[in-house]
Amino acid sequence: MEQTLVLIKPSGIIRCLAGDIISRFQHKGLIIAGLKMMQLDESVLREHYAHLVDRPFFPSLLDSMMRTPVIAMCIKGVDAVQVVRDMTGATNGRKAAPGTIRGDYSMSGQENIIHASDSVENGLIEIRRFFKPEEIFDYQDNTFRYLYAPDEK
Ligand code: TYD
Repeated sequence: MEQTLVLIKPSGIIRCLAGDIISRFQHKGLIIAGLKMMQLDESVLREHYAHLVDRPFFPSLLDSMMRTPVIAMCIKGVDAVQVVRDMTGATNGRKAAPGTIRGDYSMSGQENIIHASDSVENGLIEIRRFFKPEEIFDYQDNTFRYLYAPDEK
């Protein structure tokens, strides 16, 4: 079963969307295996957004991501990386499809409410970046038979 990292960004925290976002993932049938609030600093953001450090908007992205604490979640499920990316929507909220988190709540390419890992490999790297092993929990295995057919798990 895959694991993926979601960050509820300062834009989602300030706009009081955390409860709704967590509900969406839970109602879908995804499992929250880890969850915490944390203040990000420049060093972790330079690592997390290494592919963007040379882009002109990077200073503004740094400022945006450090404005308040974020909520970090490790989300678990079959094909969880793609399912969560599909629920997240396109990077720019103005272009994200209605029904997605960004499509429903964002008008911006930067203030776009959540981060979600973009590949299985990055999901594992990002969970290690934001969580200690003991902060990830296995507590809902007995619910899987209500979420998946036997050959899907
Ligand atoms: P990126 O990894 O390209 O997108 P995604 O979050 O959809 O995986 O970009 C990371 C974040 O950088 C994005 O969520 C918001 C910010 N960003 C900007 O502020 N301006 C931009 O033009 C882009 C491409 C990203």
